[in-house]
Amino acid sequence: MYQDLAPIPIPHRPWTLNGISKDMMVSHYENNYGGAVRTLNAVRKELAALEGGAPGYRVRALKREELSALNSVALHELYFGNLGGDGRVTEPVRAMLEEHFGSHAAWRREFVAAGQSLAGGSGWALLTYARRQKALWIQTATDHTQAAVDATPVLALDMYEHAYHMDFGANAGAYVDAFMRNVDWTAVAERIAAVRADRPLPPEDPSDKTLPSISVEELAAQLAKGEPVQLVDARPRHYISRASDIMEGAVWRDPERLDEWVGEIRAEEPVAVYCAYGFHVGCGVTKALRERGLDARYVRGGLSAWYAAGGARTPRLPGA
Ligand SMILES: [Fe+2]
Repeated sequence: MYQDLAPIPIPHRPWTLNGISKDMMVSHYENNYGGAVRTLNAVRKELAALEGGAPGYRVRALKREELSALNSVALHELYFGNLGGDGRVTEPVRAMLEEHFGSHAAWRREFVAAGQSLAGGSGWALLTYARRQKALWIQTATDHTQAAVDATPVLALDMYEHAYHMDFGANAGAYVDAFMRNVDWTAVAERIAAVRADRPLPPEDPSDKTLPSISVEELAAQLAKGEPVQLVDARPRHYISRASDIMEGAVWRDPERLDEWVGEIRAEEPVAVYCAYGFHVGCGVTKALRERGLDARYVRGGLSAWYAAGGARTPRLPGA
């Protein structure tokens, strides 16, 4: 049975990166990663609807697009998931880099050179683990269809211009340096440990699993069916004052003043709470509503995931 893939929430806090702007990261997530998710869903829908006897060229074209979108989704999830750290290599990874590349400095030289070699074009620089050879190596790929067989990327550097042009213009070298300052080596170490033990890579989803939640795909399906749901936009006041859009049908509620508006929430109807990216604000409001006996869930990935999945941008009217 065909099922749409939902985008994962942004795995790191995009406003905390050192020298990489939140706006560029969020645009990258919503437009480029979101575009790959939407393409993958659309292509798979077309593949599922193909009649027997469809011409070979049509099937080949769709399968090529499916591979490209599938790899783009996976590589972007690895890329977003290996950012948000302080760039300091953890000891177990340092030892592995020394073992496979001679020294940490030699590894860094080769990886940075691989990234910079793609400047002005597009592609990925990847630290990859070859499972059969049990060895780390650095791969470059100039598009999304160059997956290495039997190899798992554990550190992904996006060298498409959309990943850096907004902040760095043509200065790809400065972007690579900024990327290196933000690598989350703990996440990379967990991936290496998983792939060496023949386990799947850890999921990048940072959502709070202790609270009931809803994906943007599930929410869209509920709204499309006309099921009753109260949509609460719980972005902080300083954030909403600059925001020009909102989810259609949502009402903004100040997360700091929950006691003032909670009485207006109808107890008999479920509540979906979203914030900008699905981190602590939306979760905090959801928790507080549940403590008051309301059937509240938070929207995984927040408004950004809604846009990444192709959700409409509705202009926010004054006072909404
Ligand atoms: Fe990208």
